[in-house]
Amino acid sequence: MSAGRDPVIAAEADGAWIAVIQKMDETYAELVTQQVALEEKNAALEEAQAFIAGVMASMTDVLIACDLNGRIEQVNLAAERIFGPRQRSLTECRVADLLADSSPTSFADVLAAVERRQRITDREFTFLTADGELPVSVNGAVRFDSRGRSVGIVLVGRPIGELRQAYSDLAAAHERLKQAQQQLVHSEKMASLGRLVAGVAHELNNPISFVYGNAHTLKRYSGRLTAYLDAVHRGADDTRLAKLRAELKIDTTLANIEGTLDGMLEGAERVRDIVADLRRFSADRREARETFDLAALVRSALDWVTKAQMPEIETRFDVPEGLHAVGHPGHIHQVLMNLVQNAVDAIECQPTRRLEIEGRRGEDDVMLIIRDTGPGIAPEISSRIFDPFFTTKPVGKGTGLGLSISYRIVQEHGGALSAANHPQGGAVMTLTLPAAQKD
Ligand SMILES: Nc1ncnc2c1ncn2[C@@H]1O[C@H](COP(=O)(O)OP(=O)(O)OP(=O)(O)O)[C@@H](O)[C@H]1O
Ligand SMILES: [Mg+2]
Repeated sequence: MSAGRDPVIAAEADGAWIAVIQKMDETYAELVTQQVALEEKNAALEEAQAFIAGVMASMTDVLIACDLNGRIEQVNLAAERIFGPRQRSLTECRVADLLADSSPTSFADVLAAVERRQRITDREFTFLTADGELPVSVNGAVRFDSRGRSVGIVLVGRPIGELRQAYSDLAAAHERLKQAQQQLVHSEKMASLGRLVAGVAHELNNPISFVYGNAHTLKRYSGRLTAYLDAVHRGADDTRLAKLRAELKIDTTLANIEGTLDGMLEGAERVRDIVADLRRFSADRREARETFDLAALVRSALDWVTKAQMPEIETRFDVPEGLHAVGHPGHIHQVLMNLVQNAVDAIECQPTRRLEIEGRRGEDDVMLIIRDTGPGIAPEISSRIFDPFFTTKPVGKGTGLGLSISYRIVQEHGGALSAANHPQGGAVMTLTLPAAQKD
């Protein structure tokens, strides 16, 4: 201790210094704590910013944030990519500068929506990009500050060029499919017509050759009769006439004339009936429902398909006459032609080629059961045979429409068409139709 200092004053001064130093220590410690807290907050903020920047950068949609005057404040990477390198950075532009004159939505429209407190939903904008005009579908909303005041607008857009392209590709594919379907339906119609024509031609061939043959016979007869009458007119004597009569077989000729004419008439009538049948089957009067005989219809379908394609086929026909159903006979004839055609196709390469057709009359309906000796319907395709365009036949032989069209026709008649396999092999098709009301 120095000689000049008052010990009391010196002690007070020391105490004050210690208090100051303590206070400084405390303040410093507080500063350090605050610094640590600040650094932690900074780190968290940086992390949050990096996260937001990462999200914005990985967004494939274009994001533009602007103030209420349309001045751009921030954009994401997708926007920078779309708009490309520019003289001025995007944040120096206004949204309106990025829009083409032809844009269906203007920035004024956006502002009007904002004023009405509406969101922008799927509005089409046309942006001026590095690659020219780009249609973009935009959604947007107002951006608020921390005190809830509206301060700007956020717009998010997705180029619709790709969507449009995908849509137009889809529409084009659909159109191609429709055309292919129409063509197939058309070729199915042509194929049925071809089968019908082959059947009809075969049916007509018989009576026509009958008429033709008889006409030739009559021509021969007329030659003989003319020669005989010439002799009569020339005044030939009885002996000469008797000889001529025997030579020209005048008696046989006279006896045969009637039969020959009857044959011709029968042939002509058959031709007339076939034509009448054909007229009836081809008449497409949807609304006209009539009572018809299923037995006659199936017999005709069987004749027309088998006679032209497989005359040697064995058929068992057990259908009672007068199996009357109601509907459109032309359409049901088409169904029966399809069923018989399928059966004929199925037995084509089989050692036994037999078709069994059975008819049954129920209380309210009539039923036709068509069984063939083909391979039957494989279980893996049984659920698909009524699908349009399902076929197991080679191209050009089947379109796969036969059963689907038949199914629809039968349904429209209020009937049913089903397929099964016979326990002894071969397919069994069952057609049920509403029976005609008994008078
Ligand atoms: N009687 C049958 N026996 C065996 N398989 C059959 C029989 N009937 C139909 N099918 C099967 O069902 C498929 C579909 O028949 P569908 O009549 O709809 O078409 P398609 O006969 O192939 O062609 P389309 O009738 O248009 O000429 C046939 O390809 C065949 O595989
Ligand atoms: Mg068929």
